[in-house]
Amino acid sequence: RRKVTVGTLAAQRARGEPIVMVTAHDFASAHVAERAGVDCVLVGDSLAMVALGMDDTAEVTLADMELHCRSVARATRSVFTIGDLPMGSYEISPAQALASAIRLVKAGRMSAVKLEGGAALAPTIRAITTAGIPVLAHVGLTPQRQHALGGFRVQGKTAQGARAVLADALAVQDAGAFGVVLEAVPAEVAAAVTRKLRVPTIGIGAGAGCSGQVLVQVDMTGNFPPGRKLPKFVKQYGDVWGEALRAIERYRDEVKERVYPGKEHTYPMPEEEWREFER
Ligand code: KIV
Ligand code: NA
Repeated sequence: RRKVTVGTLAAQRARGEPIVMVTAHDFASAHVAERAGVDCVLVGDSLAMVALGMDDTAEVTLADMELHCRSVARATRSVFTIGDLPMGSYEISPAQALASAIRLVKAGRMSAVKLEGGAALAPTIRAITTAGIPVLAHVGLTPQRQHALGGFRVQGKTAQGARAVLADALAVQDAGAFGVVLEAVPAEVAAAVTRKLRVPTIGIGAGAGCSGQVLVQVDMTGNFPPGRKLPKFVKQYGDVWGEALRAIERYRDEVKERVYPGKEHTYPMPEEEWREFER
């Protein structure tokens, strides 16, 4: 398969072919995404929770992101790779943001970066794209700003709110973003924003009217212990956690019962060498 570029994604949008994006946080999760033939892999700062066991994304550092991006990049060949700028790595100034973006490209080997924020981030997006690093913007529900938003709430549910989401999406597009993630906005609003933009929208909890979709890989593959409450927009396509649990339980039982390892799992020794050793 040919390498996916920003040009590929623009062409997909132009011909109405949905863009498929999934997160990955390490070599293994990137390898399986590449094999599945998705268009883009996002190394989301959601790795804070899914890979590092943190409560939210606030704790994850740029150094953490560099390590995980590099691990993902070792497994990806044709997919387009995007590294998430973590909280604290881009808000202070456009220069700080550009320096952080360069680290995700150089050390993290990413093709593009993502950052959260709308119109207020336009000068920052301009600075990064001017340096030749593609930027995926992220508007609507922006989890890094959860405390300012009053929690994980749907955005753009009022006429005024919808206008703000549209204004943010237009501003980041005009600042040079090659695409916009729309998170947790009503489907009608996301579809209207998508119609008004020239660049692709990637929805998460934003309905089918977007140019593409993104989901967190551990959510959609079911790689989490039972009892966790998933957001409404997640569709769980697998039970990876359950598969791993059952495999490890069988292994535990077979070791306890001396079923494993069997003869086929052991290395033989020539008979005469063994006799010599035993003498
Ligand atoms: O961090 C992440 O995984 C994300 C996606 C859910 C868009 O930002
Ligand atoms: Na994120």
